[in-house]
Formats: sequence, C-alpha cells, structure tokens
Amino acid sequence: PSSIGILACELYIPSIYVDQSSLEAYDNVSKGKYTIGLGQKRMALCSDHEDICSLCLTVLSRLLDETGVNPQEIGRLDVGTETLVDKAKSIKTVLMQLFVEHGNTAVEGVDNMNACYGGTAAIFNAIHWIESSFWDGRYAIVVMGDIAVYAKGNARPTGGAGACALLIGPNAPLVFEPGCRSTHMTNVYDFYKPNLSSPYPVVDGHLSVQCYTSALDTCYTQYCTKARTHIESHSGTVSTDEINLSTFIGIVFHTPYVKLTQKSLARLYLNDIVRNCSYLPSNVIEKYQYLGMCAGSDDKDLERELIQLSQELYEQKTLPGLYFSQNMGNMYTPSVYYSLFSFLSSKPDAEQLYGQRILLFSYGSGLASSMYSLVCQKVQESRFTLTQLQKSIRRARHILDHERTELAPDLIDKLLTEREKNDHKVPFVPSQPIEILKLGDIYLKSIDKNYRRFYEKF
Ligand code: ACO
Repeated sequence: PSSIGILACELYIPSIYVDQSSLEAYDNVSKGKYTIGLGQKRMALCSDHEDICSLCLTVLSRLLDETGVNPQEIGRLDVGTETLVDKAKSIKTVLMQLFVEHGNTAVEGVDNMNACYGGTAAIFNAIHWIESSFWDGRYAIVVMGDIAVYAKGNARPTGGAGACALLIGPNAPLVFEPGCRSTHMTNVYDFYKPNLSSPYPVVDGHLSVQCYTSALDTCYTQYCTKARTHIESHSGTVSTDEINLSTFIGIVFHTPYVKLTQKSLARLYLNDIVRNCSYLPSNVIEKYQYLGMCAGSDDKDLERELIQLSQELYEQKTLPGLYFSQNMGNMYTPSVYYSLFSFLSSKPDAEQLYGQRILLFSYGSGLASSMYSLVCQKVQESRFTLTQLQKSIRRARHILDHERTELAPDLIDKLLTEREKNDHKVPFVPSQPIEILKLGDIYLKSIDKNYRRFYEKF
C-alpha cells in the first residue's frame, strides 16, 4: 500500500466552556495574564455526563456514520489517551461495542499512554500495521481524547478537553511522509500523574516548558537531516537542497497554550539562523548566528526579538492552526491534530494545499516527542478527499462557535471539585442538565457498584 495517511476525521466539541478573561477576574490575577500571557480565549470543560469513554464513543460513532464506512471494514483501532478510568480495561475495549453489534470482533489494537503523546503513538501503530505483513486490506481508526483538568492554581487556565477520530488507510489526501520522522525521548518528571485516585497531574510548569523546548530543538535538527536525506534519495519534490521553515505551508505544534507555539516557531527560526538557511536576510544571520543553539530559552530579550522577526512566518504557518486550541485549551493527546485540522480548514480551497507539506511536533511529558510531516494530496477515484475533510472540520468549527454553553467562572471550582469527588465513586449517576448535549452524542448514563459504565445515545 502507498500514500498511507488520514482519510477522514471527526472532532468532538465539549458542551461547556469558560471565558478566559472572566476567569482572570475571578482568579484575581492581573488582566491579560491568561488572554495575552498564555494567548487563550476560552477553555472547554465537560459535564458529568461526559467522560473519556463517552467522548471517544461519540467521535467514533460519528466517524462511522459520516463516512458510511461499514464497521466490518475496520481491522484495527488504536486509542491514545492519558485520562485513565481503569488500570487494566482499555478504552479500546469499551469502543468495541460499536463493532460487536455489527458482528466484527476482529479488530487489533489497544490503548497507548504517555501524556500528550499517546495519540501520535496510536497513529504510528496504525500506519505500521498497514505497512506490515499482518495487514488484511481493511482500514484502521485512531481515536484520541482527553479531559485536561488541573488543581486550582496557575496551571488551571491551561486545561481543556477534546477528542477526535481519524480514519487511516492508503491513497489518503493527507499522507504521512515516509522516512521523514524524528524522535526524542528521555526520563524527566515535568508532568505526571502518580496519584491514581486524583484526576490532576503533578506538574512543574516551567520545567515542562524547558523540556518541551529542548525536545523541539532536538527533533527539528534530526528531522531536517533525515528528511533531506530521504527526499534527495527519492522523488525530490523539494527544489532547494535544504529543509527549513520555508519548506512547509503549515507548522503545527502540540499546543498546551497558544503563546507557547509562537515561542516555538521563533525557536525554530533561531535553529534556521544557526543553520545559515538561505531564505533568511543576511543581517539577521550576522546578528544572531554567533549565539548558536546554546542561546538559553530563558533569555526573554532574545525571545522577544526572535518572535518579532518570525512574526510573519508565524501568522502564515502557525496561527491559522490555533483556532480550536485558543477556544478549547489544551486537549492533551489530540491537541496537535486539532491544530492540523484548524490549519486545513483555514484554507478556503483545497487546491491551495495540493502538493504542500505540513510539519507537526508532538510532545508528551515524561517525555516522548516526535516531529514528522504530512503531504496534502489530490486523490483520484476516492470518496475521501481533502475537501471532504475540510467539511467535517468546518462542521466542528460551527459547533464550537454556536452550540456551547458558557459557564460562569465561579462555577468552575464547583464543577471540578465535584468531578474530583466523584472520580472513583460508585455507584454513580450523573446529575447535571443533559440538555446541553448534542443530538447523537453518546453520554455516560451510570456507573454501577461494580464500576461498570453504561452509555446511551442522546
Ligand atoms: N498581561 C500580559 N502577559 C502577562 C500578564 C499580563 N497581565 N501576566 C503575566 N503575563 C505573561 C508572563 O510574562 C509570562 O510570559 P512569558 O511566558 O513570556 O514569560 C506568561 O504570561 C505566563 O506567566 P507566568 O507567570 O510564567 O505563568 P505561571 O507561572 O503562572 O504559569 C504555566 C504558566 C507554567 C504555563 C502554567 O500555566 C502551567 O504550569 N501549565 C501547565 C503545564 C504546561 O502547560 N506545560 C506545557 C508543556 S507540557 C503539557 O502540555 C502539559
């Protein structure tokens, strides 16, 4: 099989949100801290009818309905999440109910977990299955989602929630570029969830940003070398002999909060300066190249200058990918994919995307990170097109803009305290208003005294 990638997608928009400027006032922090300092507008929250399984069931069932793919045609289902409800039973097994009712139990794959990286690990597994001798010709699906909540304090405004389902197969309009992938994994304690009875992580926020930035540097250096070697030895669609920020129409990042992506783009720009890339003005190279990559990410003056210099690149290549993140917050595993989809939907016409590359950086604390690229392709004789993908994304954008319920910031503490209290309480019956859900959503109906969860369609 060739041109393996994303054929179709479905995005979940949680039912509730809080406005970040109201949250600033309520938290009594200086005005602009969350909206300018972090770059966030709204944060998505879930009601007690929405748990990680209901989010995943909903996007999976919508993906099957919208694409018309018969559940029998799915041979693999990988899940990525860090929102655990059980230490043994995977979410994948909960999702199997949508296949079992159609007589299909031959579906490989289980859950993948490492902070925000699990979704990417799930995608890599799905691709590798299709490339392997075990592939039986059927499609794969990847479902990833998280409910990101932090304890009260400075990390709370970087929460969020989301889930998406991706149909993966050959002859795709969005192709994972073969050979073009770099990986950096180490052992750090920047963000982790050692307390298995709490939904909250233990987080050293500033360390997590340092780890993210150094993973970005390492992945980019490796990616550029690997991609150049690969592209040179294959078809050679890139005309210049160097890989740099100008190689890509879009550059999207795992997005804990929007401001970090602007800093990240500026950091990649510094990488290009140090590599003496030919698209850069000579005065910029002369002024900054001597710094080398040892230039600390904590040098605020340098960071500001680089942000200014790379502003135009940021507005063209990264900002269009931030619509969901800015209005939903950190979604953990699906975050970088919501950025990809936001970027794709920002182009009114799919024609503008054909033949173009998009660079992705996926980061999960602990830490696991990868950088890789997708190529947009005009596919022949297939119902899975880029235009169709854009339609699904625009449907989600419409829900985001028009069909969410705003929560007053003073109710957040109540909502999250209740969520924390009910985290492992059984039996449990959700009590919040069900009307805020959308028709067709699959929601949590109850958990019985043996911790078994029951779901129903709204
Ligand atoms: N107006 C404008 N900007 C402001 C204002 C204001 N009134 N007040 C503060 N700022 C700026 C600060 O100058 C700072 O900018 P800088 O990043 O350029 O230095 C920014 O807002 C954030 O302010 P800090 O004081 O650094 O914020 P704080 O220490 O309270 O927390 C943090 C920020 C660490 C991101 C926290 O929210 C956190 O721990 N989040 C969770 C961890 C996280 O998201 N890590 C990212 C990678 S790992 C992952 O994805 C989970």
